[in-house]
Amino acid sequence: MEETTRSRRTGRMARRVPAAEVFDGLERATVLDRPIAVISKQVRRKLGPGKTRDFLHGVPIGHPLHPALAMVSFGCWLSAGVVDMTKTGSRAARTLILAGLGSAVPTVAAGLTDWSTLHREQQRVGLVHAMTNAAAAVCYTGSLLLRMRGRERAGRALAYAGLAAASAGGYLGGHMSYRQAAGANHAESVGHLVPLGWHDLCALKELPNGRPVRRRLGYIDLFVIRLGDDVSVLADNCSHLGGPLHQGRVAMENGEPCIVCPWHGSAFRISDGRVTHGPATSRQPAFQTRLRQDGVVQVRPAE
Ligand code: FES
Repeated sequence: MEETTRSRRTGRMARRVPAAEVFDGLERATVLDRPIAVISKQVRRKLGPGKTRDFLHGVPIGHPLHPALAMVSFGCWLSAGVVDMTKTGSRAARTLILAGLGSAVPTVAAGLTDWSTLHREQQRVGLVHAMTNAAAAVCYTGSLLLRMRGRERAGRALAYAGLAAASAGGYLGGHMSYRQAAGANHAESVGHLVPLGWHDLCALKELPNGRPVRRRLGYIDLFVIRLGDDVSVLADNCSHLGGPLHQGRVAMENGEPCIVCPWHGSAFRISDGRVTHGPATSRQPAFQTRLRQDGVVQVRPAE
């Protein structure tokens, strides 16, 4: 329902715009596209595929790493603000600011890694998110320098400015996560949409050997691959950002066949959907299969 308020001056009903809608405009800020293209290309080139990139995405912990690291920096800076406000220890405030600055380094590395594989609309918001957080880091660095020169009051003022910038950055990070679903699992709902029990999928003879195809179960798209008499089935929409896995390529990883997403290169083990390479951090929903006597492949969600 549209929220309205009556203007005192004109008496007209004016639409009250929710805060998040103001930031929706950032998603359409095409003016940011040129720096985004340059920076994200550089990040992807510098990192390349491999263990470091997977680690920065958060593959080993099964969640994006960046939000967890960001909590450390923000927590330190928020605590420094409380110490400043209550004037309970200038040394403690300095230590907290320094710890926040130190943890910002891996936070930025993980954030840039995730950001380089997002949709353009998410990257536009992400770039402003990064700029506000960079402003926060500059304020805190300045605050620390002022305090070291004995200018405590000015140092506190600059730290409050840093906290305001970091809060704005945090809000934009929330916008990316909750409104634009960056970092969320885009395949989580699949297991809930398939009724319990076995379902007929297709005849085995209709499936090409070794080539992924898409088949529909009701209104759900499934990635299906036949390797000899074995049929493996996963949700087709990639857990990273929903890319079509059936258009990906099959690659061997530690002797096991994996499907590589055509959009950003996440790799999932075909047998059970486990992530072998990011940017995806969530397992791809997998299905159990069996072959009926008349040659029909049946599926049900894996437990
Ligand atoms: S959609 Fe990004 S890796 Fe699949």
